[in-house]
Amino acid sequence: MFTSGGDSPGMNACIRSVVRTGLYRGLDVYGIMYGYDGMIEGTIKKMASHSVSNIIQRGGTILKSARSEAFMTKEGRQKAYAELTKLGIEGLVAIGGDGTFTGAKVFFEEYGIPTVGCPGTIDNDIYGTDYTIGFDTAVNTALEAIDKIRDTAAAHDRIFFIEVMGRDSGYIGIECGIGGGAELVMVPETRTKIEDVVKSLKGLRKTKTSSIIIVAEGLDCGDAAQIMERVKASFKDEEKEFKVTTLGHIQRGGNPTAKDRLLGSRMGMAAVEGLLAGESNCMAGVMNDHVVYTPFADCITKEKPLKSDYLRLQEILSI
Ligand code: F6P
Repeated sequence: MFTSGGDSPGMNACIRSVVRTGLYRGLDVYGIMYGYDGMIEGTIKKMASHSVSNIIQRGGTILKSARSEAFMTKEGRQKAYAELTKLGIEGLVAIGGDGTFTGAKVFFEEYGIPTVGCPGTIDNDIYGTDYTIGFDTAVNTALEAIDKIRDTAAAHDRIFFIEVMGRDSGYIGIECGIGGGAELVMVPETRTKIEDVVKSLKGLRKTKTSSIIIVAEGLDCGDAAQIMERVKASFKDEEKEFKVTTLGHIQRGGNPTAKDRLLGSRMGMAAVEGLLAGESNCMAGVMNDHVVYTPFADCITKEKPLKSDYLRLQEILSI
């Protein structure tokens, strides 16, 4: 088992579940440090039940994480296979996002070690699961910050642009927009134009003295700071103060919420039980509250569209 790519809160709950389910089912369980890099270097340790004591409530990942360049090469994967063979490893649980699953798919196709993935990323951008491990915590962390910014925005009648993470996906953005009562949300999926932002803000001024605009990263019209400057330029003759806050990596840390602890635990168990039942080259996800296995090929290529009613909801609630 290993964690790879950006860490997410709840990964430790998942690790704990993989270890304990494996031991419960009579398996030997190994933890690979630093994702694919550790597989190549052979930094692999045998896990006992106590190895995962007191971690369910902790953010980050006790196995550490990395984005491996070496694993993208044939030589790297060959070395990794040799290291796994030395220990007689017969199955892998890959905890991470689409980059992790892309690597796992190639590795499975080359060497045939049965592999099941668990979706661990704050972005919630993986097809085959309603939610990914860490998304709920990231949204709650961002909301806490947004609530605080709203207090000061309201006190000074300011317009705040707040940038949230999500890579190319607007899931964090839209849920923060609805939950944080934002006046506007800009997500990659809707391709909002700067002119439309200006128009909305000018319209809103009749009823509101301050505004929160959630800007998801990954927009093709720039980051929150650039967008703010362009919007500000359209207000130049009027006295309005504009500010920008980029929430950044605080969204990745912190204690996982109850939802993420449960999701990580469910998926960890599903991965091990899936492997034992013959599942492979696929990810364990939870859809409509049921565990489902989706081929890696679909997880990494199929779109996971934003819920269209969320976009409508946000628009209606922001008048
Ligand atoms: O995929 C998780 C994520 O936090 C994205 O939201 C963000 O774009 C990226 O990782 C940041 O990566 P890094 O921590 O390598 O800067």
